[in-house]
Amino acid sequence: MKRRLEPELMDETEQARAYAAADFDASNSLFMDLLRGLNPGPLEGARALDLGCGPADISIRFLRAYPHACCDALDGSRPMLDLAQAALAALPGVAARCRLIEDQIPSETLPERHYDLILSNSLLHHLPDPQVLWHTLRQVGKPGAPVLVMDLIRPASAGWVEALVSTYVQNEPEVLQADFRNSLFAAFEPAEVVEQLALAGLAQLEVGVVSDRHLAVLGRLAT
Ligand SMILES: C[S@@+](CC[C@H](N)C(=O)[O-])C[C@H]1O[C@@H](n2cnc3c(N)ncnc32)[C@H](O)[C@@H]1O
Repeated sequence: MKRRLEPELMDETEQARAYAAADFDASNSLFMDLLRGLNPGPLEGARALDLGCGPADISIRFLRAYPHACCDALDGSRPMLDLAQAALAALPGVAARCRLIEDQIPSETLPERHYDLILSNSLLHHLPDPQVLWHTLRQVGKPGAPVLVMDLIRPASAGWVEALVSTYVQNEPEVLQADFRNSLFAAFEPAEVVEQLALAGLAQLEVGVVSDRHLAVLGRLAT
């Protein structure tokens, strides 16, 4: 099935609210399990970057799991960052280590070779040009920095898309169902991601299928 782009930013208030209210515990817990599997170390004094952070659930989980690390959480959507700000307001110990950045990749403001760890969940399929993400990793990550990017996999058929929609978001608001459907059509197949990484000079990163609807890119930047 051919890829079908969806709007890049999630910058409508109702859309952002529905996303933030949805239950992503299974996939976000999987993300954290994959991160632990990468053995990033204690990350004492480390600065991570969460690209396309949305309401910052991944940043918050990361900062709870690694209490000596800091995180810059970047998104191009103001409504998403407002929801991230609200979530952080209830967690002062975490909020003190999280900096929200309103910016869109490719970014002209992120510092080069600066981050000790780069995280991104469900951003890749939003990008019309996926190389924007892979170039950003190379540009802003320190040599040897661990990287974890997780995203949806584009199913082989429209029928399979509908099966995933009814399995995972049947009871969610219509706007979230539409977003999930559009995201599945916009996502990449694992082989396409392998090609993207080769083109970006990141062939050392591994691509794995980690659930019935997710792939993950794991490894370290070159030293
Ligand atoms: C599906 S959400 C994922 C949010 C979060 N990472 C999570 O796991 O819940 C994708 C987010 O990426 C943001 N986004 C899309 N394109 C972007 C870009 N070029 N730069 C920064 N953020 C972007 C959207 O606004 C949206 O908040």
